[in-house]
Amino acid sequence: MPYHRPNGLVRAVRLVLTFTAAAAALAYTPLSDDSLRRIPSGGADFDIDSGALLAPILTPRVPGTAGSRKARQHFVDFFTTQLPGNWTVEWHNSTSTTPATGDALVPFSSLVFRRDPPWAVPGDVGRLTLAAHYDSLYRPEGFVGAVDSAVPCAVLMHVARSVDAALTDKWAAMLAAGAGGDGLDEEKGVQIMLLDGEEAWVSWSDSDSLYGSRALAETWEATRYDVASVFSTPLDAISLFVLLDLLGAPDPHIPSYFANTHWAYQHMAAVEGRLRKLGMLETPLTSQFMEEDWKEAHQFTGGFVLDDHVPFMERGVDILHIIPTPFPVVWHTMDDDGAHLDMPTTRDWARIMAAFVAEWMDLEGFLPALPVGSHEKCDGRGRGEKLEL
Ligand SMILES: *[C@@H]1O[C@H](CO)[C@@H](O)[C@H](O)[C@H]1NC(C)=O
Ligand SMILES: *[C@@H]1O[C@H](CO)[C@@H](O)[C@H](O)[C@H]1NC(C)=O
Ligand SMILES: [Zn+2]
Repeated sequence: MPYHRPNGLVRAVRLVLTFTAAAAALAYTPLSDDSLRRIPSGGADFDIDSGALLAPILTPRVPGTAGSRKARQHFVDFFTTQLPGNWTVEWHNSTSTTPATGDALVPFSSLVFRRDPPWAVPGDVGRLTLAAHYDSLYRPEGFVGAVDSAVPCAVLMHVARSVDAALTDKWAAMLAAGAGGDGLDEEKGVQIMLLDGEEAWVSWSDSDSLYGSRALAETWEATRYDVASVFSTPLDAISLFVLLDLLGAPDPHIPSYFANTHWAYQHMAAVEGRLRKLGMLETPLTSQFMEEDWKEAHQFTGGFVLDDHVPFMERGVDILHIIPTPFPVVWHTMDDDGAHLDMPTTRDWARIMAAFVAEWMDLEGFLPALPVGSHEKCDGRGRGEKLEL
């Protein structure tokens, strides 16, 4: 993704979105300290050579190549065979020419992994939507893209497994209590988008970038739910679109880019701060990644980073963009590889995102205890532990 530019796109929908955000904000309940202590670390699964989640993604993943297919296989295997929960897989295939590849049609395959409450009618479920792109740059040849975006993909896999059992248990408890589907409880689902074709092949433009997310947003805009549904389209059913990008480099500074989702930024920042105080993060207490919780409405300049959220934002979706400014120094260079990752930062992202999603999904009381010894203060001793997949 490239430069910042002033945001003139979403003025018209701001007013409407503000009401939705306010309603959601009212319903938001922070997790207890006890629940936060149950959020697992990514641990050894983020090892760059042998980590079950991250290592398989640390290889070139140019669309249409074997590396891209292998990364997809890794994701599909994980969600459909490693996780006991019932994650559905939706493929979003498209093709396009690119300025680097002449008349050839390059295939792009974005993946959406989803869990809805088992009783829910699709058009009635609002979904927390977490996204990252898995493709890597076409040039320089051999570019790996560790922060861009292998780490965000692995973080989202960790998020899924960290909330999977609790979602199952919570929904079973709701069904047992007769609460499911009575219209009194908000129907909340979660979906993880692993997007293809984010990168430009030659130089960033509206047509040379965001191949996968443009196709997906268009498809969902045209997909109508039954007229009696709560939501009109799968886009309308996105309660919040959280896009992760360029994560895993040291000392990230994540601005709050959008006034209309600043409330969600504040919740994530609060989760981060609480995890730090509980001694559950590995980076120092003073190195808060999300420190703009103080921002006031008039301090939003309208600048943002062009990335996979744009096709969704243009269609009125609420966006929380978790991307550092300034970009990591390795950005779009051959140094963006596993060896240049800051592992404490990388593992902290995994825990912060898992905690935020557990909180958003109201998993208080349903998170399983961590294996003995794995939830102590992170002082280096516990880092090598491998968690069960
Ligand atoms: C899994 O999800 C699919 C699609 O939503 C649904 O048809 C199926 O009944 C679910 N299976 C279980 C065991 O929940
Ligand atoms: C999408 O493309 C992949 C190959 O990239 C293929 O395996 C899959 O079956 C296709 N899915 C659909 C729904 O077209
Ligand atoms: Zn990039």
